[in-house]
Amino acid sequence: MGKVIGPGSLIADITGFAPHLPIGGETVKGSAIRFGPGGKGSNQMTAAHRAGSDARIIGCRGDDVLGQILKKHYETEGMSEEYVTVLPDGETGGAFIEVDETDAQNRIIVVFGANEQVTRESVLAAEKDFADCDAVLTQLETTVEAVMATKELAQKYNKPFILNPAPYDNVPREIFQGIDFVTPNETEAEGFTGIKVDTIEDCREAAKVFFSMGVKNVVITLGVRGVFFMNEKEELFVPALKVKAIETTGAGDAFNGGFATAIADGLPVETALKFATCTAAISVTRLGSSPSMPYRHEILALMEQEFGITL
Ligand code: RIB
Repeated sequence: MGKVIGPGSLIADITGFAPHLPIGGETVKGSAIRFGPGGKGSNQMTAAHRAGSDARIIGCRGDDVLGQILKKHYETEGMSEEYVTVLPDGETGGAFIEVDETDAQNRIIVVFGANEQVTRESVLAAEKDFADCDAVLTQLETTVEAVMATKELAQKYNKPFILNPAPYDNVPREIFQGIDFVTPNETEAEGFTGIKVDTIEDCREAAKVFFSMGVKNVVITLGVRGVFFMNEKEELFVPALKVKAIETTGAGDAFNGGFATAIADGLPVETALKFATCTAAISVTRLGSSPSMPYRHEILALMEQEFGITL
């Protein structure tokens, strides 16, 4: 079992389902409202945990009603909360998610709350686990200083560092210098590179901009189309699997958690992309973000069925 560590967001998701999403001023009668554990960081670490990693999140939440949703999730999953700081007066991050039942697509408003209290010191306090980890994973739902400290430790101990630059934010571009893997979706790739990403040629051009910022390997997720990979030596494309999606919230997180697990296990990049593709494909067939993450045996079965790969 590989160890994956990094700072990440702990957020409670409040999700409403409706036949269509409302326009400004409109009220739409929905079919269900659900509360559940979310946050890109926590979703990704849950995906890594269920995919077979010893996943350790460095995070921050409040001791409030939303915080209890996360607390219960970590207890039920048996995931480490060693590096989760609980602020007695802090507000746990929250997300309002609207899901369109006709196409499973969503819209999200996220409030970071206590996630903005994850500091450089919070990351440095976990140094011993960076020293013996197998992969480092983070996103942009905590703080820039936490991401920079994470990169520092990943480089100090020579560990593969995966940065999922989500959600897009106008962060200093030096954040990308020396990153092993960057994993934007089309929107994030466009935000950081200025290139509208639609075709494979666009992906190549966006990847080159990331290279110029110091990234070594670029992975651009293209939703239902698949995933594009490029480094200085090779280019790959793995098509998405055809599944009946009911909720896509957290699909990118499933991909990143699965990818980090496969990299931590020392798998070649192409196999890691396929492992991540299977993880994401199963997640969209289930409700919720963290709760939708698949277990290792399910991912392995799909790897064999779709790609003929036995792990
Ligand atoms: O990527 C999906 C996640 O983004 C949701 O769980 C929500 O919490 C937001 O952070």
